Amino acid sequence: MISEQIRLEQNLRSKDLTEKVDGDLGGVISTIAAATGAIAAEVRRARINDVLGMAGDTNVHGEDQQKLDVLADSILLGRLSARADVAVFASEELDKPVVFGQEASRKFCVVTDPLDGSSNIDVAVSVGTIFSILGTPTTGEVGETAVLQKGTMQLAAGYVLYGSSVVMVLSTGDGVDMYVLDPSTEEFILVGEKIKVPKEKKIYSINEAYWEDFSDGVRAYLDFAHKNGYGSRYIGSMVADVHRTLLKGGVFIYPATTKAPGGKLRLLYEGNPMAYLIEQAGGQALTDRTRIVEVMPTDFHERTSVILGSSGEVSTVSRFL
Ligand code: AHG
Ligand code: MN
Ligand code: MN
Repeated sequence: MISEQIRLEQNLRSKDLTEKVDGDLGGVISTIAAATGAIAAEVRRARINDVLGMAGDTNVHGEDQQKLDVLADSILLGRLSARADVAVFASEELDKPVVFGQEASRKFCVVTDPLDGSSNIDVAVSVGTIFSILGTPTTGEVGETAVLQKGTMQLAAGYVLYGSSVVMVLSTGDGVDMYVLDPSTEEFILVGEKIKVPKEKKIYSINEAYWEDFSDGVRAYLDFAHKNGYGSRYIGSMVADVHRTLLKGGVFIYPATTKAPGGKLRLLYEGNPMAYLIEQAGGQALTDRTRIVEVMPTDFHERTSVILGSSGEVSTVSRFL
């Protein structure tokens, strides 16, 4: 494992990552990348290792935890806890963040959705890992609440998509880069730099099953889209839907509904990292009233509505809302 980790670290570093970040941010990202390499192997073998299905427990959201959710979380937690520069680890699968330590060397906090798209695991549809890296506050005591920062404070964010290939999309504040995991060498190979979301694209991505629970504004937008030649694509794994939107354009919408008045997706480890990436790629990422990254979080698991993607398409949706 160590040689794999070093190789990955060298590989990521050799891809100019260190020129883009100061300090050990590159090191934290390399550890996350190596962890996702291990998660990818578990995802590939889930059916064989019988780590599919319910873990027999529910998470803080009352959602059934999939075995792979818990496994992915423990892989990320385990590896990051070994670093001396990470203070706090927060995750969708943990009721509260874990504080690794309060030494000044622990300059980073990591927030993650260890496995996104759980409902798709058992049917071999793409799932992913989403991560967000924040600076550890230098004022006050370092504790769980260190991760309650606006998305504008993120130092880096990214996701790894376990699809037909394992793709990492990452930004450290200087544009969006894309890597693909070479299974033969376990190295993430840089395959794209400064990726930009196409300005316009007539694709909308939303779960229309909630039609009855949508606001009049969302319904009015969907009527417009139906009458103006839009295509519809919805995979049900946010990482896969956002990745398609990043590369092909369009708009991904998970709005507030009567059943989920605050939206379903979680601000800290779904909304903010994806919003950071989409904005770094020249797109827009809004709630139904403001930029997602401007929302001041008050709870680790608070939810947000999400309208993100091509700048022109998001503006069109906003006009209807
Ligand atoms: P997670 O598996 O981490 O709980 O996330 C699932 C999320 C997200 O991946 C996806 O966009 C959304 O749930 C799909 O929700 P619906 O099934 O309500 O469409
Ligand atoms: Mn998720
Ligand atoms: Mn998840």
